[in-house]
Amino acid sequence: MKERPLIYLDNAATSWPKPPGVMEAMEKTMRESAANPGRGSHEMAVKASRVLFEGRKMLARLFKIANPNDIAFMLNTTHALNQAIQGLLSPGDHIVTTAMEHNSVRRPIEALKRKLGIQVTYVPVGTDGILNPDDIRQAITPSTKLVALTHSSNLLGTITPIGDIGALTRAAGVPLLVDAAQSAGVLEIDVEAMNIDLLAFPGHKGLMGPQGTGGLVHQAGARARAAHARRHRKPFRIARAAFYEAGQV
Ligand SMILES: Cc1ncc(COP(=O)(O)O)c(C=O)c1O
Repeated sequence: MKERPLIYLDNAATSWPKPPGVMEAMEKTMRESAANPGRGSHEMAVKASRVLFEGRKMLARLFKIANPNDIAFMLNTTHALNQAIQGLLSPGDHIVTTAMEHNSVRRPIEALKRKLGIQVTYVPVGTDGILNPDDIRQAITPSTKLVALTHSSNLLGTITPIGDIGALTRAAGVPLLVDAAQSAGVLEIDVEAMNIDLLAFPGHKGLMGPQGTGGLVHQAGARARAAHARRHRKPFRIARAAFYEAGQV
């Protein structure tokens, strides 16, 4: 029987085929530096740490964050979103999210609603599929501890005005968690300029990496360091500590 050519249309779930450069880099890493990074001081462990840190630096450039260590690697976007949502909310807290979220946002929120009694506001989107920042502003209450929303809807393909929403969540002092499952590597993301506090992203979709990769950019550490530096007027010591964390000294 004649084999039919494969037409792959499931790139929103995971991208395929991966570029040859990705496969070559993975093979080279497996051959040359597949030791446990950060756990040993033998040559290959140091090489593995370097590979990891190079990856951090590239992601920090892509998402325009100052410190590559403000990225925690995760298994995928779902893992990153769960870490952020379950890590930030306590009994009685309120979360603002939208009616167009993926199950990886909606399910942990619903689970916390049952387990911890958190309060949830699902902000509706317009008939054009676009979220109105004013509706987010109006949904925020004094007990709101998180605003969580998708950058680009997997259902509609519409793009959320993250910059406008980031300005208002920052002014309200509420952390903003952005689900970049469909936008990382596709749309411009400037974490600092858009006032994003937490960015959950996949490595295996728009960034063309292998399955089982993703991460969480967390800017709370960056803001705490900046506030500390301002308070103590010791920028050199802070810079040196950041360098130390990054394995540069
Ligand atoms: C909008 C959105 N959020 C989250 C996810 C989950 O992504 P991952 O497969 O990296 O866990 C997806 C997956 O398709 C998605 O489309």
